[in-house]
Amino acid sequence: MVDMNVRCPRCGEIVSFSGIPGERRVVSCPSCGTDARLSFPGGEIQTSENTIEVSHLRKVYDDLIAVDDISFNVKKGEIFAFLGPNGAGKTTTVEIIESIRKPTAGSVKLLGKDIKTQFNAVKEYIGILPQEFHSFERLTVRETLVYFSKLYKKQANIDEIITAMDLTEYTKKLYRNLSGGLKQRVGVAISLVNDPDVVFLDEPTTGLDPKARREVWMVIANLRKRGKTVFLTTHYMEEAEFLADHIAIIHKGNIIAEGSLEELIDQYGTGSTMHIKKCKDPMETIDILKEKGYDVLSTGNGDIAVKIPHKERVLEVLSDMRHACIEYENIDIRRSNLEEVFLNLTGAKLAEEK
Ligand SMILES: Nc1ncnc2c1ncn2[C@@H]1O[C@H](COP(=O)(O)OP(=O)(O)O)[C@@H](O)[C@H]1O
Ligand SMILES: [Mg+2]
Repeated sequence: MVDMNVRCPRCGEIVSFSGIPGERRVVSCPSCGTDARLSFPGGEIQTSENTIEVSHLRKVYDDLIAVDDISFNVKKGEIFAFLGPNGAGKTTTVEIIESIRKPTAGSVKLLGKDIKTQFNAVKEYIGILPQEFHSFERLTVRETLVYFSKLYKKQANIDEIITAMDLTEYTKKLYRNLSGGLKQRVGVAISLVNDPDVVFLDEPTTGLDPKARREVWMVIANLRKRGKTVFLTTHYMEEAEFLADHIAIIHKGNIIAEGSLEELIDQYGTGSTMHIKKCKDPMETIDILKEKGYDVLSTGNGDIAVKIPHKERVLEVLSDMRHACIEYENIDIRRSNLEEVFLNLTGAKLAEEK
């Protein structure tokens, strides 16, 4: 909170008011009742291009190291995915940034403020969808949003949120009668009621069927269009692949790789695979391609898989095939994905890790 002493323009009384940095509010003079609009100083909440700066963060629960000396930045306006298996330390990290848990060591700057000393200055600028979120069973969607918006000084337009989150046809439905996917969409909507600059979404699609998951993804992608910075934790690699501008992979409390999807795949993937469907003479084709130095194998039914270590080599393979007059029905190229990146980094499958 910051204090401001102001002189009443009518009666001249000097009055002290407290407010959060950057807050604007109408105040009344206690002596004569005159109203005036005050702007409290300190509203310049973000000073660098990074919305979140985490430095040497560590969290130990008794003898368990949940988060072990991690550092990373989240840039303004990006969707940042914190990807890792269950128990990796995602919720611990995100809840430290949200000031719900205390770190054992390290520091966090959120919107330019050190959360240890200045969290109050930024708490009105963040929105949170906690893991395993639940709301009031007997409130309608609109009542839920109105209820949560009253907890904040800064309030967004509820109708705009309802439209953006694609909830218009459900506003009068009770929360308890909504499907899992709709409940999560209401959760994302709740995280927006104070028109935050940063939104934290902890596993927003866990337990949803693929269709509901995609619908929540569209809603999250919409947050980026609205200029929000999104901190998304997930153990679904497809979710990170679909949504994230930047991905940090966390494993056993450590960040083991970080970058854009392209960067991670280029650095830790094993390249792409070209699938040649229904080759006229598969055995001869394999021999020809092997002679040219390619890593080739038969995948049955006359189909062949050719490993492409760098995407620049796709044209080379096609050109070699044309020169050798290889005949086939179809070709598709599948690139390496995050699952493979995780496997290469840890020796384990993301889905199987506990
Ligand atoms: N309050 C707690 N007390 C003790 N251990 C905890 C607590 N919260 C989490 N853990 C442990 O810390 C590790 C990281 O947990 P968490 O941050 O919830 O991971 P994630 O969100 O990636 O699944 C896990 O081994 C978990 O059991
Ligand atoms: Mg978690």
